[in-house]
Amino acid sequence: MKLGKKWYTSLALTVGMGLMLSACGSGGQPAATGSGDKVYVIGTDAAYPPFQMLEADKISGHDIDVMNAVAEAGGFKVEWKNTGWDPLFDGLDKGTVDIGISSITITEKRKEKYDFSEPYFEANQLILVAEDSPVQTLADLKGKKIGVQAATTGEEVVKKAFGETYEGLKGYDDMPSSVDDFFNGRVDAVVGDNGVLQYYVKKIQNKKFKLIKDDSFEKEFYGIMVKKGNTDAMTKINDGLKKIKENGKLQEIHDKYFGNK
Ligand code: ARG
Repeated sequence: MKLGKKWYTSLALTVGMGLMLSACGSGGQPAATGSGDKVYVIGTDAAYPPFQMLEADKISGHDIDVMNAVAEAGGFKVEWKNTGWDPLFDGLDKGTVDIGISSITITEKRKEKYDFSEPYFEANQLILVAEDSPVQTLADLKGKKIGVQAATTGEEVVKKAFGETYEGLKGYDDMPSSVDDFFNGRVDAVVGDNGVLQYYVKKIQNKKFKLIKDDSFEKEFYGIMVKKGNTDAMTKINDGLKKIKENGKLQEIHDKYFGNK
């Protein structure tokens, strides 16, 4: 069964959509394998609490709840893969991952290569510094060592402020490493998504830190991402997302992780 389906899929890819449609009738699906059988591989970087985390070998968090609810409402099956951040984009490029959900900000640059769902979460950057730090704005970080997760919007705002090759910029593969280095004094500040930095500040109570929002930090919106042109997956995702927005499930998940303020 498995082999047959794989063979069919690669053939369909080879011959292209037009032929596939004419070969399979107006539904565009072969009778033997309805779309309900397909299991979509969801990639995530499960080191971004409380959005994606790994607890006792299990991926959990806000985005995991959102994606599972979207899939249920949209009528499709999913399988989770903890890819990490950069490899998530590679996985989508290579086709080893069908869908990415990982607090991914919808940006014009990413839209060149990927398609995004409607937004499911609003966010912004914040600066994490020691409580007694004189830093009040992003500009005040000039000359200081700044930790970010590499290839994120946090890295982008720092580069925009201090230049592409700013010496003090330290890009980490994952967010927890940047925060660890901050707590160990190896960087003076971390710039990253509000929800995650707020999570860490709340969790670590023996030392005192503060979070600063610079006026230049724009609203960001998280979207569910697929490889450009994967309209099959995107239609299902947006359908499911619309349903969980309307029936209150998305709000319920939000409140579970962030309270209802
Ligand atoms: N929202 C930011 C971005 O899209 C950071 C996301 C990082 N996500 C993660 N799971 N590490 O660039």
